[in-house]
Amino acid sequence: MNVRQASKLASRVPTGIAGLDDLIQGGFPRGTSIVLAGSPGSGKTIASAHFLYHGAKNLDENGVYVSFAEQRDFFFDNMKKFGLDFERLESDGKFKFLDVMTSSEEAIMVTFETVLGEVSAINAKRLVIDSFSAMAQAFEKKIDGRIALHMLNKLIRKTGCTTLWLVEVPQGSKTLGLGFEEFVADAIVQFETIHEKEGIRKRAVILKMRGTNHNHRYSNIVISDKGISLMPYVT
Ligand SMILES: Nc1ncnc2c1ncn2[C@@H]1O[C@H](COP(=O)(O)OP(=O)(O)OP(=O)(O)O)[C@@H](O)[C@H]1O
Ligand SMILES: [Mg+2]
Repeated sequence: MNVRQASKLASRVPTGIAGLDDLIQGGFPRGTSIVLAGSPGSGKTIASAHFLYHGAKNLDENGVYVSFAEQRDFFFDNMKKFGLDFERLESDGKFKFLDVMTSSEEAIMVTFETVLGEVSAINAKRLVIDSFSAMAQAFEKKIDGRIALHMLNKLIRKTGCTTLWLVEVPQGSKTLGLGFEEFVADAIVQFETIHEKEGIRKRAVILKMRGTNHNHRYSNIVISDKGISLMPYVT
């Protein structure tokens, strides 16, 4: 490997999601904020779990998962079915699951102090917020959610973590979510569930990724007992 190849690799974060790195020049741009938007059940949580697991287990990049949506035991048990032993990672100090069951604006701010504390405690390099949509529900006024997002995003950027913000897109919705996450994000990966005559199919597309010559085509999302993978459409 020459110096140029090495520095290019250092600037990318391998995602751990089979098939995705090939579509985005080797991985997410390091230290950026990525919105992973998708309809219910499209695979956002499973994909972000692979992202955290791969980093912590194989690349010495510890991770924090902030859950507004999934209960701790449910997450650990479910991910074990894909061979992802987060319990083990957590006891090795490589991973932290933060279960947030809060609904007030003040509590959100305190929560984020805790998040930043945990990121620093385990020297995390990867962070997942599941989901921005659930978090935003704590804010009565849309504008307050917007201000909070900008503030949090700034604080998180300072940590150097590559961060996935999951966004729940209601089935059939034409916009991604609340309509402003798009501007904060360096990248947007969209997962969709589409209805066909035979049934439903899941697909993914990269809407934007700053600094990246990314693929523009749809890929099938395949979820099996082995986990999640993306398979580009073949024409
Ligand atoms: N073992 C498995 N084999 C195949 N598909 C599976 C398996 N386990 C889960 N799935 C699929 O994954 C989906 C759940 O994925 P995931 O929880 O990541 O979705 P999500 O986008 O986070 O959903 P939500 O918005 O509800 O949180 C299930 O609805 C199912 O279609
Ligand atoms: Mg989920």
